[in-house]
Amino acid sequence: MLILAIESSCDETAAAVTNERQVLSNIVSTQIDEHKIYGGVVPEIASRRHTEAISLVCNQAVYEAGIKYTDLDAIAVTFAPGLIGALLVGVNFAKSLALSLGIPLIPVHHLRSHIAANYIDNDNLHPEFLCLTVSGGNTIITKVSDYTTFEPLGGTKDDAAGECFDKTARALGLSYPGGVTLDKIATVADYKKYPLPYPKLSDNELDFSFSGLKTAVINLIHNANQKNQEIDIPVLAATVRNRVCDMLIDHTLLAADKFGYKKIALAGGVSANSELRSRFSEECKKREIQLFYPQLKYCGDNAAMVGVQGYYEYKSGNIGDSFLNATATLPINYK
Ligand code: KG4
Repeated sequence: MLILAIESSCDETAAAVTNERQVLSNIVSTQIDEHKIYGGVVPEIASRRHTEAISLVCNQAVYEAGIKYTDLDAIAVTFAPGLIGALLVGVNFAKSLALSLGIPLIPVHHLRSHIAANYIDNDNLHPEFLCLTVSGGNTIITKVSDYTTFEPLGGTKDDAAGECFDKTARALGLSYPGGVTLDKIATVADYKKYPLPYPKLSDNELDFSFSGLKTAVINLIHNANQKNQEIDIPVLAATVRNRVCDMLIDHTLLAADKFGYKKIALAGGVSANSELRSRFSEECKKREIQLFYPQLKYCGDNAAMVGVQGYYEYKSGNIGDSFLNATATLPINYK
């Protein structure tokens, strides 16, 4: 089933052609250089750049797949959650395309598609499994009971892990997107030099809180600046990375233990983090848990993952129509 998938939920305009789990083309036009100047994504600029790029990106995806628009069987599009203006560009473009070609429109939830990025290169991954999805806007542990059945077990009560990385990196003077830069320059963590909190929540032990950690790092940097003390940036970066990884790994393994899962998948932009991948691999090996993660190019926002999830949404009858609207927030287990 040939699907043209479209993704425009944040600062990447992406299109891909997929056939079930196979990726025939995957085009990503990133706006990072433009948002870098402001230290974060400016929603208005994001919407404008999506509008400029979307038809070129789709044409390129169809061309590189070696097909014609008329060969397509369906159009899949990210419709939620994300920046509303940015999502609307993709949704409206997808609706027009599906209508003009007379083919089905498939609405895809952004976090579901991040999870589906794992299916691309892991032929042996099938639900049920546990997934930790960590990105710039989300941190959530989910039971993936079926391709379109999800049960959130815990999530962040404030900032996402990616936001914690991005904001602390910005305070350290590192360029946007901070998580990537912080991961590159981090050396060895040292909690004696830079003591950082490990927030725990009493209501649900699988929930996360990252805002206290973010504030602690920012305060530490301000205090040092006021006293004219130099910060050892690579060590502080490593200490923050280590703390975030501690929380992500501990909570996910706790969930795996509690619910008896022997298969764990990682998803989202932060799943590209080098320490997260290596420590998870070690821990899962010790526990004889199978660990899956996407190739680096499928960790961040892309449309290949939208096409793959779109295929499963289509199979379970989730088809959209011309009334489909973009939605800024929507739980992964929406009905
Ligand atoms: O999934 P994504 O591309 O966009 C969202 O849907 O949010 O995730 C972007 C986030 C940013 O916060 C970025 O700093 C973070 O992923 N990120 C990383 C790494 N690569 C990307 N964080 C830590 N280490 C990395 N290597």
